[in-house]
Amino acid sequence: MNSYNIAVIPGDGVGVEVTTATLAVLEAAAGKYGFILNPTHYEWGCEYYLEQGQMMPDDGLARLEKSDAIFLGAVGWPEKVPDSVSLHGLLLPIRKQFDQFVNVRPHRLLKGAQGPLKKSDFNILCIRENTEGEYSGAGGRVHMGNPQEVAVETSIFTRHGVERILRFGFEQARLRSKKLASVTKSNAQKYSMVFWDEITDELAAEYPDVKVERYHVDAAAARMITHPESFDVIVASNLFGDILSDIGAAIQGGLGFAASANINPGRKMPSMFEPVHGSAPDIAGLGKANPVAAIWSGAMMLEHLGEQQAADAIMSALNDVLDIKDNCTPDMGGTATTAELADAIVKSL
Ligand code: NAI
Ligand code: MG
Repeated sequence: MNSYNIAVIPGDGVGVEVTTATLAVLEAAAGKYGFILNPTHYEWGCEYYLEQGQMMPDDGLARLEKSDAIFLGAVGWPEKVPDSVSLHGLLLPIRKQFDQFVNVRPHRLLKGAQGPLKKSDFNILCIRENTEGEYSGAGGRVHMGNPQEVAVETSIFTRHGVERILRFGFEQARLRSKKLASVTKSNAQKYSMVFWDEITDELAAEYPDVKVERYHVDAAAARMITHPESFDVIVASNLFGDILSDIGAAIQGGLGFAASANINPGRKMPSMFEPVHGSAPDIAGLGKANPVAAIWSGAMMLEHLGEQQAADAIMSALNDVLDIKDNCTPDMGGTATTAELADAIVKSL
């Protein structure tokens, strides 16, 4: 029987509630499809910071590295710890240290879920570069507090970084509709984005079966709202992918539905699976959080581990269960609690 060591970081706020819900569903899937999940819980986050002065222990990354995959709920509680500290103390170090350079975010409407646009026929895979570009962290400020104060934030695009994310996009397109939308702003950003376009051309020669479409990010943003069905695989830089995938979340029904995977495709180090949403302090502890984004992320983790059948079964259970209003959480207009929705999914499985 296959068995997998999963590092579980529930984190803060609703992260804890949606993680509990997800583990119940994953356990049920494991039981049904004959594999074993060995979760190890790490109670790291803002409470840990208040006690220990750091978001995770010194050997935190070394402990996570031994796992087959990492599942994370959400991290952050701005009233207790500044977001810049909590984000840079846990989530970002994991993404960087384990070279999880692909951020995958699927956008489609589940049955029963209604996006604000009520279009049911889109199925977008947004692939975002996760380690460099506009979020490279290179920059600085001088003359602080003076009238001549200056802030510089430099995007860094490396051939290595751009090529590997585009290649991942081409490979995904090959597995799906063989159509790849490369999103840039190469009319205005004449160095980095023209560089991106050139590498796209080079790779396109290696993937003659994939049709490349190019969009500027502003036009792509509008098109995702008016014609989401015209996209299949989207590949974009760190900033552009971040913004487009929030549009994707909105049109699929909100943050309660947006799943994500931070992947190290070479599998030399663990990948991390997490809902896109944060700790939602406004509803934390009330049982109101929609666990679908987290459970969908859990299904992506099983797929990554090779348990495709179990992953498919979870997605199909999600569709069946959300079609019934009684199972829906408040963000879907229902009254079910996080645990009740998870329960319904477990029963459906
Ligand atoms: P948020 O995603 O936590 O909440 C935004 C809005 O969406 C809130 O009204 C919330 O109630 C709602 N919402 C979020 N998840 C939901 C769910 N599962 N079901 C129903 N409604 C849901 O973003 P916000 O408020 O900007 O950030 C709160 C904290 O979370 C901050 O500390 C922030 O840094 C952190 N954060 C962490 C992320 C992560 O761990 N990956 C991602 C985004 C934010
Ligand atoms: Mg974002």
